[in-house]
Amino acid sequence: MEAGHQPVMPDEVLGTLAPQPGSLQIDATVGGGGHTERILEAATPDGRVLGLDADEAAIERVGRRLARFGDRLVLRRANFRELADVAPGAGFAAVDGLLFDLGLSSFQLADTDRGFGFRAGGPLDMRFDATHGVPAAELLETLSADELAALFRKYGEEPAAWRIAKAIVAARPSAPVRTAEDLAALVERVVPGNPRQPRRTHPATRVFQALRIAVNGELEALQAGLEAAVELLRPGGRLVVLSYHSLEDRIVKQFLNAERRGCVCPPEVPVCVCGRSPRLRLVTRPSLTPTAAEIDANPRARSARLRAAERLAA
Ligand SMILES: C[S@@+](CC[C@H](N)C(=O)[O-])C[C@H]1O[C@@H](n2cnc3c(N)ncnc32)[C@H](O)[C@@H]1O
Repeated sequence: MEAGHQPVMPDEVLGTLAPQPGSLQIDATVGGGGHTERILEAATPDGRVLGLDADEAAIERVGRRLARFGDRLVLRRANFRELADVAPGAGFAAVDGLLFDLGLSSFQLADTDRGFGFRAGGPLDMRFDATHGVPAAELLETLSADELAALFRKYGEEPAAWRIAKAIVAARPSAPVRTAEDLAALVERVVPGNPRQPRRTHPATRVFQALRIAVNGELEALQAGLEAAVELLRPGGRLVVLSYHSLEDRIVKQFLNAERRGCVCPPEVPVCVCGRSPRLRLVTRPSLTPTAAEIDANPRARSARLRAAERLAA
């Protein structure tokens, strides 16, 4: 097992993608390379993988760790929202399998300079790609309390959004929130727990999730990535998505359902006018979740949900 990041639901991912020798696969979120490595092994001797990640450090690390696969592994630092351009440019215009394993890796969580984890003492950044966009600390410094509360509600479904937003703005003159540790401590102070009801997660989990989603434009990227993925799959090719919270899972579920039905006309239209036909067939009905044994061995897998579909002939 590679140190740092254990791939989630590896048997289910491999069983669904079923990569064959000679096949072409895309891992849109290569991370620590755990799934990519297994796909390459299963597609021995000549199956190939295009691995993308928005994070340059992930691409460099995987390039070193999986160098033994030679030109069977092609790596690109790119956001998967650019998949429609990046994949054909790398020679992967029509593929047999495509994997999205959403969110962040244990490497990113452990890197105290990036601000993803509650105990990170460095700057609160949270960007997967530090060359684009604005760091999370800048949002906390510049947005109004109303805007912050709306962000925590929309992307974190945080019930105490307004109280937390007000406290962040009030702290600006004397003790501005600059690090992940500052933010985690502020939320703990503002939303005290009930000592008789031990919490299963840190009280700042939803606020951290909301900021990460906003900073990286994660939900918009997911929608664009899924749309590109359907275009890239060959008939019979498989799309597998691992999501970790309800906002991303909802997007995946709605997308797969729309592509399974084909017609996107509103229900009040009596006869189809969109002319679209189904492009996907669901292969997990409705979804898979990790076994208790996997969650015991890898608590990060706890919230994972796998959905998969197969591309139909055009
Ligand atoms: C959960 S990790 C993937 C772990 C990987 N499957 C493994 O087994 O090691 C998710 C990765 O996706 C990357 N990522 C998240 N959103 C992305 C996006 N829109 N485009 C490209 N990479 C993204 C993150 O930088 C992170 O490295």
